[in-house]
Amino acid sequence: MPLPKAELHLHIEGTLEPELAFELAARNGVELPYADTDELRKAYQFEDLQSFLNLYYELMAVLRTEQDFADLADAYLARAAAQGVRHAEIFFDPQAHLARGVSMGTVVEGLWRALGTSESVHGVSTKLIMCFLRDESAASALQTLEAAKPYLDRITGIGLDSAEVGHPPVKFREVYEAAAALGLRRVAHAGEEGPPEYITEALDVLGVERIDHGLRCMEDPALVERLVRDRVPLTLCPLSNVRLRAVDVLAGHPLPAMLDAGLLCTVNSDDPAYFGGYAGDNFAAVRQSLGLTEERLRELARNSFLASFLEDDEERRARYLAEVEAYEFGSPDAL
Ligand code: HPA
Ligand code: ZN
Repeated sequence: MPLPKAELHLHIEGTLEPELAFELAARNGVELPYADTDELRKAYQFEDLQSFLNLYYELMAVLRTEQDFADLADAYLARAAAQGVRHAEIFFDPQAHLARGVSMGTVVEGLWRALGTSESVHGVSTKLIMCFLRDESAASALQTLEAAKPYLDRITGIGLDSAEVGHPPVKFREVYEAAAALGLRRVAHAGEEGPPEYITEALDVLGVERIDHGLRCMEDPALVERLVRDRVPLTLCPLSNVRLRAVDVLAGHPLPAMLDAGLLCTVNSDDPAYFGGYAGDNFAAVRQSLGLTEERLRELARNSFLASFLEDDEERRARYLAEVEAYEFGSPDAL
């Protein structure tokens, strides 16, 4: 049985496996510039965040109908459940779809077909977080928030993703203020490729409650002290960091040092179809490469529920936390 965990950093478009991409392409009459799934998988050699994003946006062309989004989310939830995910807070990138003529309603209602039944079908509770693309304009983010207004009963929070460097959090001050006024929770990617100052700015200017990635906080001891003091969760994605070259090798990942520093770290999969593993695979990989003890792994699982937006259901959070405490570790490669 896998370790019970919450996944808090997961882009639903990043769960598009090559097999499903070809199936959806055929269904929608979309031509992909790859002969087959093997050739597509060979394209998964990334130098940095941008080289990944290019392919990530290209493949989204196959997502056209509500059913496509439902099938995508359902496939993710099945895989996540099999790896012990009990609760998932799922990012989506509406601007990437709106730009292709796919409406907000198609995306949200489609995802909801799977999320709305996820508990009974997969045993996974879910929340949706709408991300803004930081390499698009602030005005576009505001328009996107406007387009989401009819669907806010299905959207828990907002996030900020895509190309980080050169697009500091302050660019999105206004849309974050507007989202806060609507009662939305706030997170942002910061300190993945961008400098530690972006983490500080995301906290101070955007009022975020969690930092996605946040790896580069380790370059600024005063920032680490603040994150520890304020118990700001960091949603780390170890296999993503290796594939996008934020770290050289997994054995050199700062996760153990971050835990030793007292940071509230969580382990997540980011874009599992592209980065070689789902949530449990990330846990197993850090256990193997970083020699984390069972207590450290339990701490990571506990943190994932503590950092989740389950304030509307504390009873559920308590139940998940009790599952973590009761967990008995077995085979070292199944987590
Ligand atoms: N970083 C930034 N943007 C993204 C990512 C990521 O890891 N995945 C999908 N969009
Ligand atoms: Zn991400």
